[in-house]
Amino acid sequence: MDIEFVRSRFIKHFDGQTGNIYFSPGRINLIGEHTDYNGGFVFPGAIDKGIMAEVRPNGTDTIMCYSIDMKDRVEFKVNDPDGPRTTWARFIYGMVQEFKQLGVQVGGFNIAFAGDVPLGAGMSSSAAMESCFGCALNDLFANNEISKWDIVLAGQATEHKYIGVNCGIMDQFASVFGQEGKLMRLDCRSREFEYFPFEPKDHTLVLINSKVKHELVGSPYNDRRRSCENVVSALAEHFPGKHFETLRDAEPDELLAVENEVSTEDYRRAHFVLGEKERVLAVCDALNHGDYETVGRMMYETHEGLSKEYEVSCEELDYLNQLAREAGVTGSRIMGGGFGGCTINLVSNDVYDDFISTAIAKFKSRYGHAPEVYPVVISAGSHKVC
Ligand code: GLA
Repeated sequence: MDIEFVRSRFIKHFDGQTGNIYFSPGRINLIGEHTDYNGGFVFPGAIDKGIMAEVRPNGTDTIMCYSIDMKDRVEFKVNDPDGPRTTWARFIYGMVQEFKQLGVQVGGFNIAFAGDVPLGAGMSSSAAMESCFGCALNDLFANNEISKWDIVLAGQATEHKYIGVNCGIMDQFASVFGQEGKLMRLDCRSREFEYFPFEPKDHTLVLINSKVKHELVGSPYNDRRRSCENVVSALAEHFPGKHFETLRDAEPDELLAVENEVSTEDYRRAHFVLGEKERVLAVCDALNHGDYETVGRMMYETHEGLSKEYEVSCEELDYLNQLAREAGVTGSRIMGGGFGGCTINLVSNDVYDDFISTAIAKFKSRYGHAPEVYPVVISAGSHKVC
């Protein structure tokens, strides 16, 4: 992101003064999809694309917002009970409300922001917004006394309460805690995590964006979560002596025992989640041994599961996955919530060029538009730029 670009717009659209600049990244996730809200493991990292905001307190009780990308201006009062209708401005409103809940005296401010993380591509542009605004509010109104975890949770609460997506914590976590060159294995039940240096030998991670826009608001994302909760309720009823908080607490034989007590659809979804928990652990282990074949195999298994059992794929993503297999790519799968967006591909360097050119050409001839290709650069999490 270009600091001068954001600054020039901030100056132009407000009173000519400058503020502080903050940046928060989007994320990739090597493996561990739809496991976060099930108390399982995820394996994300922050990327070099994200949201940059310039912010300056204005001494009033009004928040004046300018979205550089949308060329749109919205204003609202700090204590407005309903908040703005415009979706992008609700991310700011939500974070302000959550900071107030944390006891922070938020005052009015001017904010202009822009992003280079593609929208709807499954790279968490919304978590990047939340953590960027959280980083700014923390610095300008809370003396940086709000913990990173509280910023993560404020971002998640913003999604739940002000946007309508019942997401887990992976995206906000990755955006806030990311470190250059490191992936993070997070246990979403205990919130313990570990940094994993990620320097794959002779392999490259690359995202391929189908450009099918995924929209989690009002999407079947919340339904998937409900399916998992249905199975948890069935487990609790079937095994009254055991406490089931999430699917993380379920063993495969326990799931099998309730197969006839839940719908086929819910069963298949829960089956995917249990398998995915094991796959994340297997991938961490394989990475420690430099065993990319196993990492790749697990990624393909995840894709199959997301496509057939969890049903969050689409034709274009399945085709990108098929093209990866045909080109001998080590591992490939849908990344993020699904319903569109990107595949993440672990590609051995000797097939890289061929894979990319063939995938672009074949995808374009089938769907009429070329997919976009983003080599992954694992980068730092949210921070003040200047
Ligand atoms: C979206 C959500 C995350 C997570 C992923 C799927 O990105 O925001 O919390 O559930 O989907 O792994």
